[in-house]
Amino acid sequence: MPKVTIVGAGQVGATTALRLAEADLADTVIIDIEYGLARGKALDMSHALSLTSSSASIVGGSDYELAEGSDIAVVTAGYPRKPGMSRADLMEANAAVVREVITSLVRVAPACVLIMVTNPLDEMSYLAWRLTGWDRERIIGMAGLLDGSRYACHIAEELGIPPGRVRPMVLGSHGDAMLPLARLSSVEDTAVSEMLPEKKLEELAHRTRTGGAEVVSLLKEGSAYYAPSACVAAMIRAILNNEGLQVPASVLLRGEYGLYDVFLGVPIILGEGGWSRIVELPLQPGEREGLERCALLIKERLVGLDEWLENSS
Ligand code: APR
Repeated sequence: MPKVTIVGAGQVGATTALRLAEADLADTVIIDIEYGLARGKALDMSHALSLTSSSASIVGGSDYELAEGSDIAVVTAGYPRKPGMSRADLMEANAAVVREVITSLVRVAPACVLIMVTNPLDEMSYLAWRLTGWDRERIIGMAGLLDGSRYACHIAEELGIPPGRVRPMVLGSHGDAMLPLARLSSVEDTAVSEMLPEKKLEELAHRTRTGGAEVVSLLKEGSAYYAPSACVAAMIRAILNNEGLQVPASVLLRGEYGLYDVFLGVPIILGEGGWSRIVELPLQPGEREGLERCALLIKERLVGLDEWLENSS
C-alpha cells in the first residue's frame, strides 16, 4: 500500500485523509502542530475503517517520523487570511509555516512528490521548490483542478447538464487574475464559448474567480474544503495509479508558454513521480496576454518571497 502524508489536520487536510482512506488508496499519516487534533481525527477516522472494509491505515500526530518514506506529501498547514490581513502578511505567516514543514519532510521523505495546498498557492509552491531544490516535476500546486471544477459546476448549472460532462480549462494564477477559458472548455466536442452568450460567460468566469470567497462569506468561519480535498484526492489517485490524467496545476515553467522561473497554472500530465509533461495549448493572443499578466503578478510577489528567504534564514 502506498504511503501518503498530509501536513495540516484542518478542514482540507482531514477531509483529504478521509477520502483517501475510504477509497482504500493509501496508508495515510496526518501531521499537525496540534498533536491532539491530528491524532484525534486519525483515530476517529480509523474507527470507521471496518465499515468501509478498507485495508488502509490512518495515523496522526506531531512527529514527522510518522511520515518516513512517504510516496506523496500534501501540505495544507498554514493560517487562513484573517480580516485586516494583507496578502503580504498572509504570505509571510504561511511562508514560515511552509518552511518548517518542508524542512521536516525533506528529512523523512526525501523521495516524495509534494502537493502544495497552502495559500497563497503559487507562491508557496515556489517556496517549496526553492527550499527542496528538487526536480520541478515533484512539486505541484493544487489549484487549477479546483478552479476548473468550480467553473464546470457553474457552466453545467447554466446549461442544465451534469457537471461531469463539462471539460473545463482554467489557467494562470490561483487568485484574481485566474483565466477561466470558455474557448478551451467544452461539452463533448463543442466549445463552451459557442454555447453561451459573452455576457453570461463573463458572469461565469467572475463567479469562478470569486468561488473561494463566495464559500467563505457563506460559511462565516473557515474556507472551502469539500471541493479542495476532492481535487487533492483525485491528483493523488492519478499519481499513484500512473493514470496519465491531465489537470491544470501550478508548476515551475522553464520556457513553456514563453514563461520562465514562475509557478503558474498550466495543464500537466500526472503520473508516477509527479508530472511528466506540460501540455502547451495553442492560445490566442488575448489568452496569452492574460497568462503573461498572471506570470508578471506572481513574479513580483516571488521577489518579495526571495527577499524574505534571504533575510529570515
Ligand atoms: N505545522 C503543522 N501544522 C500546522 C502548522 C505547522 N507549523 N501551522 C499550522 N498548522 C495547522 C493548524 O494547526 C491547522 O490544523 O494547519 C491546519 C490548517 O487547517 P485549517 O485552518 O482548517 O485550514 P484549511 O481550511 O484546512 O486550509 C488549509 O488550504 O485552501 C488552503 O487557504 C487554505 O492555506 C489554507 C490551507
